Amino acid sequence: MILKNQILSVEKFIQLALYDKKFGYYTKKNSFGKSGDFITSPLISKLFSEMVSIWIISFWIKLGKPKKFSLVELGPGDGEFCKVLIDVVKKFPEFNKSLKIYLFENSTSLIQVQKKRLKGKKISWIKNFNEIQTGPVLFFGNEFLDAIPIKQFKNKGNIIYERFLSFENGKFIKEIFKKVDPKTFKKIKYWNLNNKKIIEYPEMGFKILESICKIIKKNKGGILLIDYGYTSSRGMDTLQSLKRHKRNELFESVGKADITHLVDFSLLKRFFKMKNLFSNKIVTQSFFLKKLGIIERAEILNKNSLFTEKSDMYYRLERLLSDKKMGELFKVIYASNSKNIFSLGFQ
Ligand SMILES: C[S@@+](CC[C@H](N)C(=O)[O-])C[C@H]1O[C@@H](n2cnc3c(N)ncnc32)[C@H](O)[C@@H]1O
Repeated sequence: MILKNQILSVEKFIQLALYDKKFGYYTKKNSFGKSGDFITSPLISKLFSEMVSIWIISFWIKLGKPKKFSLVELGPGDGEFCKVLIDVVKKFPEFNKSLKIYLFENSTSLIQVQKKRLKGKKISWIKNFNEIQTGPVLFFGNEFLDAIPIKQFKNKGNIIYERFLSFENGKFIKEIFKKVDPKTFKKIKYWNLNNKKIIEYPEMGFKILESICKIIKKNKGGILLIDYGYTSSRGMDTLQSLKRHKRNELFESVGKADITHLVDFSLLKRFFKMKNLFSNKIVTQSFFLKKLGIIERAEILNKNSLFTEKSDMYYRLERLLSDKKMGELFKVIYASNSKNIFSLGFQ
């Protein structure tokens, strides 16, 4: 049991539930894929990773094919995206020669899974972005931000309260709202208060993004993020728990289920703007992947395949692209300094 008799901020609660060294969900097991609790786009179809790999190679071409190019994958999960990327880049020897891959991961057990899957590949695992050595750096994360704890606040009569959760003997008892010290509140610069009921704020995620923005500004490069999220602020609690591919009561299986939230992409865009980065129009996953030619690629692959293989591929494609599934729910954003504007997949 992780939760004793205690009162935790929402951020601290998520941090414990997911990353506690002994009981945390991500510390204990590999929960990816069919037999796990959730499935991400790289595990639904290889075509997702192929399209993103092509986007990365095109970005490198747009930069003028630099001799040294770094890719940092943020939160690589079970390493599936990276595995496909390595296969794709073998077909592009000049790019392959320039490419240095870094994996940014904080779960020790997932690092072991990644090392096993990507054995013998020239990859560095990093905990700190200062370890990146070379040239233009592109950061890529799929479902990275939705796994980073957030804070929740409430705005009542222009007084801001932070949401805390009270537990007794591991059981959730009630929520408590504590007044936020105006000084602390001033530090929180990027949100749009309006009159939202609940304001979700990714302070930890923004800390990571802040160091990324510094690197992007210094070197050439950019950041491509794909995540489950929305574009007009909702003012609601979006925390959810997933177990065995189903929604689960948030406090029922703490440490045994994944806890995520929806990413506020409009806030993210504002954040990049405040950091003097340029960002493309936010698009949906379906728009992005279709612009990159995912349907055409599926048609080519399907030419000589059996009926069962064809239907399996289209079933998977439907999950990635359909409005009711991941196609609309997932959004894509790209940010860079103004010299590296790159609109492939966005228009
Ligand atoms: C939802 S998973 C996504 C995995 C993978 N990108 C995919 O699409 O299958 C989130 C990943 O981010 C990692 N992660 C979460 N917080 C992190 C942090 N602060 N630093 C580095 N990695 C983190 C998790 O351990 C996990 O690998």
